[in-house]
Amino acid sequence: MPTDRVLYLLGSAAPPVLDLAPVVEQAQADGWSVCLGLTPTAADWLAGDLAGLERLTGHPVRSRHRRPGEPDVWPPATAALLAPATFNTLNSWALGLTSSFVVGFAAEAIGKRIPLVTMPCVNSALLAHPQFEQSIAVLRSAGVRVLLGDDGFVPNTPGQGNPRAYPWNAALAAVRDAII
Ligand SMILES: Cc1cc2nc3c(=O)[nH]c(=O)nc-3n(C[C@H](O)[C@H](O)[C@H](O)COP(=O)(O)O)c2cc1C
Repeated sequence: MPTDRVLYLLGSAAPPVLDLAPVVEQAQADGWSVCLGLTPTAADWLAGDLAGLERLTGHPVRSRHRRPGEPDVWPPATAALLAPATFNTLNSWALGLTSSFVVGFAAEAIGKRIPLVTMPCVNSALLAHPQFEQSIAVLRSAGVRVLLGDDGFVPNTPGQGNPRAYPWNAALAAVRDAII
């Protein structure tokens, strides 16, 4: 059901991305029209599901930058949720390395003042890398709501992740808050 409020749901290649249909449906029940963007690796993981996700959202799934002259196939974003956000994608976003469509959109959206929420999906070993804390600080200082720790994703020990416990409800609630 098309609505005026458009959520860009942008996923990178961590296991919670493998089960996005219920997240899209929940966002739609919250009144969002959802456009789904994926990093190239996430799109590869979901290759067999992309047609179904396009039917569900009613929009093409995007995973690459437009070619020059190619029209933008999505309506303008009211807000964006980048989740699950990998170590690679979060660091790329913070450092401004925009070779993927998802990171390119998210980087530009800071300057366009589009409300942005992200929820990492990283284990405690990646969390300990010195760049990670800096990337989170950079994104927060730029106005991005980062759901890490008590109000969002709690990093697991390596090999102990449970994608079914990924707190999508917290992410969708934060997106609702972001546009109030
Ligand atoms: C089964 C599997 C699970 C993974 N889980 C995670 C994860 O939870 N967090 C993470 O940062 N990377 C994880 N990775 C590694 C990323 O997929 C990899 O760094 C990839 O290059 C990320 O690309 P993207 O950020 O462009 O999506 C996982 C890889 C595999 C194969």
